[in-house]
Amino acid sequence: MNILPNSKSRALLETARRCMPGGTFNSAYLPEDVDVVISHGKGSRVYDVDGREYIDCLNGSGPMILGHAHPEVVEALSQAVSSPSNYYVLNHRGIELADLLVEAIPCAEQIKFGLSGSDATFFALRLARAFTRRDKVLKFEGGFLGVNDYALMSGVNPPLDAPYPRPVPDSAGIPQAILDDVLIAPFNDLERTLGLIESNKSELAAIIIEAQQRCIEPKPGFLEAIREAATKHGIVLVFDEVVTGFRLGWGGAQERYGVVPDIAAYGKIIGGGLPLSVVAGRQDIMRLTNPRNPGPSYSYISSTMSGNTVASATGLATLRVLKREGVYDRLAAIGQRFKAGAQKAFARHGVPAQIVGNGPLAMITLTDKPVFDHRSFCAGDTRLFKKILHEMLGRGALTHGKFYFSLVHSDDDIDQVVQILDHSIEAALNT
Ligand SMILES: Cc1ncc(COP(=O)(O)O)c(C=O)c1O
Repeated sequence: MNILPNSKSRALLETARRCMPGGTFNSAYLPEDVDVVISHGKGSRVYDVDGREYIDCLNGSGPMILGHAHPEVVEALSQAVSSPSNYYVLNHRGIELADLLVEAIPCAEQIKFGLSGSDATFFALRLARAFTRRDKVLKFEGGFLGVNDYALMSGVNPPLDAPYPRPVPDSAGIPQAILDDVLIAPFNDLERTLGLIESNKSELAAIIIEAQQRCIEPKPGFLEAIREAATKHGIVLVFDEVVTGFRLGWGGAQERYGVVPDIAAYGKIIGGGLPLSVVAGRQDIMRLTNPRNPGPSYSYISSTMSGNTVASATGLATLRVLKREGVYDRLAAIGQRFKAGAQKAFARHGVPAQIVGNGPLAMITLTDKPVFDHRSFCAGDTRLFKKILHEMLGRGALTHGKFYFSLVHSDDDIDQVVQILDHSIEAALNT
């Protein structure tokens, strides 16, 4: 939907562009002519400040797995905000959430709170360095692990001919010293990954990985072999479960792929739409964050808002819904319905395409060649895909290219998104 002249949206977008570089809250942005200013959301829909409705395929970039204003989350939130506060010391909701997370997350014997996914991966890597007393980190090309200095390496559009294992920083301002401590491997390339682990084994503190990288599945045996190599060399295996946690299943990617890391970073869903994240893991590693007994390996992890009572309330309410019988079957069916429908739509227009991703999650690349890592994913026709996305936004489907569906997307909603996609492919091919 194009921005209307003299609309509330137009005035607010102008203010946004005046006050914030690029007129955006974060690194993602929508094309100027179809940019939106959201007023509120309900279920699978969001509404802009001019009252126009969009099917939400973005869901806050992942946290809103129950859709918007889910009644149980709203109820928990109303109770928590009757005395909205931050106490810094313990509160009962934060403890209940910690207990539920320890019960649910396969690797979790203990957890430590943070506020964002980027906090969680940052804390996890510091903890790994404290535990091993080594400095280096191995990560995978195209894996997005947040915006801390260690994470922002070869994750966002690295040049496709960059030599491994040298990292390419995704941002200016990252110290060279940190670049020297990060190694990059191609996802799903076991031989090269094991070679890098072997040749850096005495210096590697951590291997950090999105077990399903973006939406690319690990090849059978890939995660298992990394697990084995990490154990053999005393390297901490970290799963970034910020996207996959409580989305691919109650036990996240760890449960789905049957591989348990030493520690894991969680964010997005666990705060139910409010800022909250955790590092979860083995007790012998997590105990290094214990401030009561700080030894030489004490890993300082703390935040003013940790365990915030309001974010814990929305997180708990969200997880309690997700824990119910049949929820993950339904979420998988939603993802499957979209993928099957989208695949047909591309086929109908003769456009080679692959729709990848497990659970209620999907990404699209316009190629028929096998997709197994960042470079093969990027081999698709990105120019045409951008045009299609632009058309989808104009037709009322809110998306930035990674499709996050929620439990309240009905079959009709998904069919509607597929229909919008179908029309958008046609329009993009004709412009
Ligand atoms: C896999 C992964 N890890 C970490 C992050 C960072 O999370 P946040 O944006 O909450 O800092 C993201 C964000 O999208 C992510 O996708």
